[in-house]
Amino acid sequence: MIKGISVFAMAALASGFTGMAIAEEAASGPVTFNKDVLPILQKNCQDCHRPSGKNMSGMVAPMSFMSYEEVRPWAKAIARVVDDKAMPPWHASEAQHGKFRNERVLSADELATIAAWVKQNAPRGNPQDAPAPIKFQEGWYMGEPDLVVKFPEPFFVNDDVVDIYQDISVEMTKEMVPEDKWIKKMEFAPGSEVVHHIIAYASKKGDQGNLMRRTHLGGLAPGTDPADYPEGYGKLLPADSVVTFQMHYHKEAGPGTGRLDDSVMALQFHDKPVEHQVTTSPIAHGNFEIPPFHSDWKVGGARTFEEDVDLLALMPHTHLRGSYAKYTAFYPDGSTEVLLEVPGYDFNWQTNYSFKDIKKIPAGTRIEWEVHYNNSKENGEKNGFNPAESVRFGQPTTDEMDLGWMSYSPTKAAGTAASD
Ligand code: HEC
Repeated sequence: MIKGISVFAMAALASGFTGMAIAEEAASGPVTFNKDVLPILQKNCQDCHRPSGKNMSGMVAPMSFMSYEEVRPWAKAIARVVDDKAMPPWHASEAQHGKFRNERVLSADELATIAAWVKQNAPRGNPQDAPAPIKFQEGWYMGEPDLVVKFPEPFFVNDDVVDIYQDISVEMTKEMVPEDKWIKKMEFAPGSEVVHHIIAYASKKGDQGNLMRRTHLGGLAPGTDPADYPEGYGKLLPADSVVTFQMHYHKEAGPGTGRLDDSVMALQFHDKPVEHQVTTSPIAHGNFEIPPFHSDWKVGGARTFEEDVDLLALMPHTHLRGSYAKYTAFYPDGSTEVLLEVPGYDFNWQTNYSFKDIKKIPAGTRIEWEVHYNNSKENGEKNGFNPAESVRFGQPTTDEMDLGWMSYSPTKAAGTAASD
């Protein structure tokens, strides 16, 4: 009950109620599912915890929380995971609270309500107190796509494969992309459970081999949300282009483990050209070696922007050993700002941290990226790797990566003509 009372204490503090009123209100009725808990689940959990909830590259919530019948068996587990901050999944430090528009956190009131409800044996309460159910749309999370890009044919990931990278190219026809298009929203659907990540690139027809000239459209890694660019910002998908899916498949090897994969990318376009072409590229050091059994090996890198840029999002990427990530801006006026700190980096939740207010980065700013790896025995048992090996940068999931992805665009409007 202590926690239950504290909800009202906080509400009372805010509204200036007296101590008597607090005690009375707390005593006046139990915390119930219908009145108090369901609204919290609707707002913070059902997006994923429903029969066809979000699929973020295989991160699919294993149970639905739509009704009392579904939630009741999980009441204790819910109290535990919200108290541990394991759910809803969000890994940025509390110091950045309020900065990102895809933030997933419960308020102190919501936490206290859930704790109080479970302490009171999770009562159902009066059905008339329940809020109207949320109508989730089926199909694409982002809404109706303008274009769905599919493989020419499903790709077979062989039985003996553990880790492979496979490029699959799709020509954009005149019907698909009649003119240069600016991407507003982008969502990937993995076509099998052996997809580890997808990165999609666009190249001019005939130029697919030139890795320097292709543009990064977007990607999918475990736990990544669909992309959604603000008005005036987008990625360019040129007419006469080829989209290449860089597929990374990862699985156990063995008879019967082969899978057909037909992953797809769905796009929604801006209805007119945008002024700010978004680029996504990483800061990467690449040349590191994590010693065996080291529990906190630090790697870093930096980039200085030569022009003013609008920073839209940050996405730390490592493999299984990554444990911590941080981006810090060193501004030309001598001041410093932590842009993002992820104290409990989790490989399964590769969040694209999207700024609520676009971050203005003046020319001359150096952005430092720092990442730590935990190559300890305990972490190896937990995440399935061999800590007795030293580890370098490499493509397989058992090697490491240190990619501090950034999505940005020049602050200066480019005009509306698409550059070549
Ligand atoms: C962005 C999607 C997402 C949101 C939002 C979300 N969950 Fe989850 N949840 C998952 C996934 C995926 C799993 C399974 C994998 C895991 O445990 O990390 C999970 C697992 C769980 C589990 C089982 C954990 C265990 O240890 O057995 C509980 C309980 C849970 N979630 C409760 C909640 C509650 C309560 C909320 C809202 C306050 C919530 N989740 C919000 C995706 C989500």
